[in-house]
Amino acid sequence: MTSPDYQSGEDFPTAMDARDPVAHFRSRFLIPKARTGEDCIYLCGHSLGLQPKKVSSYLEQELADWARLGVEGHFHAQRPWMPYHRLLTEQTATLVGAQPIEVVVMNSLTVNLHLMMASFYRPTAKRHKVLIERGAFPSDQYAVNSQIRFHGFDPASSLLELTPRNGEFCMRDEDVHSLIEREGDSIALILVGGVNYGTGQLFDMAEITKAGRKKGCVVGFDLAHAVGNIPLRLHDWGPDFAVWCSYKYLNGGPGCVGGCFVHERHARVWELRRFAGWWGHNETSRFRMGPEFDPIEGAEGWQLSNPPILALAALRAAMEIFSEAGLECLRAKSVSLTGYMEFLLCQNASPKFSIITPREPGRRGAQLSIRLPSDGRKICDRLAAAGVIGDWREPDIFRVAAVPLYNSYRDVYLFSQHLSRVLS
Ligand SMILES: Cc1ncc(COP(=O)(O)O)c(C=O)c1O
Repeated sequence: MTSPDYQSGEDFPTAMDARDPVAHFRSRFLIPKARTGEDCIYLCGHSLGLQPKKVSSYLEQELADWARLGVEGHFHAQRPWMPYHRLLTEQTATLVGAQPIEVVVMNSLTVNLHLMMASFYRPTAKRHKVLIERGAFPSDQYAVNSQIRFHGFDPASSLLELTPRNGEFCMRDEDVHSLIEREGDSIALILVGGVNYGTGQLFDMAEITKAGRKKGCVVGFDLAHAVGNIPLRLHDWGPDFAVWCSYKYLNGGPGCVGGCFVHERHARVWELRRFAGWWGHNETSRFRMGPEFDPIEGAEGWQLSNPPILALAALRAAMEIFSEAGLECLRAKSVSLTGYMEFLLCQNASPKFSIITPREPGRRGAQLSIRLPSDGRKICDRLAAAGVIGDWREPDIFRVAAVPLYNSYRDVYLFSQHLSRVLS
């Protein structure tokens, strides 16, 4: 749907919700309540996705097996815990466009980022720089700076930042490419957020990978805001690695287990240095408890510890909904919903706010970042009091995302009404 087709009245969202092919998935989620007792207008799936109703029964199953079987649950639970993480492999691979050998569900995002950098950030005197976006998520900045220092380099000379032009908030593709072209010979690692957490800008991951690899750089992505939001084709695009979390668009629950992609071309490169742990060791000999590490082929070889089954159970409940709905279908609704939100905001244009997220649907996901240069925090708090949940990022950004699995056109309509009221 293009913007001329959107309409500003109340009938439009009603009609759109009535013909939305994925509207019924909303009833699979627990929607927090506003003070009035009505459903919140929850626009915060970019931060913490909502709880699928099935989660509690999935957790109860594992708790019951633990109660009934104790340690035997590793082999005899209804879904044995030893290979439990593999219950998520196929769905995860489909979601990120990878082969099963290229993905594993483990740890949390920053831990996985360090594990990946331990293997793939190998700086030399000539090629030591890490290219990241200015305004990358702070954890990525801390992780990268600490890795640079760990290798004896100095972020002042080894950290290279992609910076928007003066007066702009988002990066231009041509600037990304000219920087890689210009600096590529000194760049050891390009690490970009697939979707920037602050602006909501979607990067052209295929082109960045191509440009980086042409220059001999390692390419990795932080997909925290992309996974479950944007269709991904990691295997074909060809980055060396990617990491993500599962508590945002994937709805795995607070602090749920993250994911990791390692391209197939590294699956059997045994000389690649890595930090090892027993869960990455070849399963056929793991319990011989020998001293020599023998890694599993592919991404699983980067596992360290036996995984948290309860968190994985919650993630299974969440991921099954994705498999059922299909990401292509969800993305189609997402583009339409976000376009509708943008349309309504533009109808109520005011000098009090501006949208900094790119306007082209192909350059963003579900999130819109709204800049509120004065009294933004207060506006955000008033919206929250009225049951409109987005989130505030200092100094002046209010982030909202209409998530196609559980947000409706009516949510978006009501949000725009509340925002106009609060602004006036
Ligand atoms: C873009 C991005 N990267 C990294 C992180 C850190 O994730 P974790 O706490 O799972 O390590 C987040 C958390 O919200 C994030 O949004």
